[in-house]
Amino acid sequence: MRRKVRIVPLMAVMLAALALGVVAPGEEGDPGWMRTPDVVYVGTPYDVVSIMLRMARVGKDDVVYDLGCGDGRMPVLAAQKYGCRAVGYDIDPVRIRESRENVAKYGVGSLVKIIQEDIFKVDLAEATVLPIYLLPEMNRKLLPQLEKLKPGARIVCHDYGLDGIVPDETRTVTSNEDNASHTLMLYTTPLRRQ
Ligand SMILES: C[S@@+](CC[C@H](N)C(=O)[O-])C[C@H]1O[C@@H](n2cnc3c(N)ncnc32)[C@H](O)[C@@H]1O
Repeated sequence: MRRKVRIVPLMAVMLAALALGVVAPGEEGDPGWMRTPDVVYVGTPYDVVSIMLRMARVGKDDVVYDLGCGDGRMPVLAAQKYGCRAVGYDIDPVRIRESRENVAKYGVGSLVKIIQEDIFKVDLAEATVLPIYLLPEMNRKLLPQLEKLKPGARIVCHDYGLDGIVPDETRTVTSNEDNASHTLMLYTTPLRRQ
């Protein structure tokens, strides 16, 4: 039986960017921060970010990691709303600049760090919450890192889940910002294989 693939906004934008030659797929062995991003930037609407953080039951003792942080809205909102520490990683220098500007604009510099790094090289040992908005193959490649998270860590995936892992909860919400529906999947470590 053929699997039905639902084309949601991030995948549609990525396919268009590849067709136009705006991005090239990242190559294995590229030197870290110098390589092309594996996915173009599309921000999660703010109201959806809020729901993702609520689903993860973020508290002030959590450490939120956003792997591919775009303009930094996830770590900034987490620090603002919950007073927790947060780290945003991105490979694209433009996104790093925007994120740092947002950290300064919202006055959360004592809680949020923005780091230019390839997410596949990040040590996740201290992370307790990960809101994730990446393509399915990136989630697959991240899985070995996610499986090493400490017990009780929460991962909330936007639109693309973790293949072969059973979510604790799946929710579809409609954003007031883009009037589109967004599927959110919550996972808790240790991850449960299907
Ligand atoms: C779809 S956007 C999500 C942005 C943000 N997390 C949000 O939901 O609003 C994905 C981000 O991942 C970044 N990215 C792509 N490949 C990466 C890599 N290998 N390492 C770090 N960042 C990467 C892109 O530059 C982009 O900003």
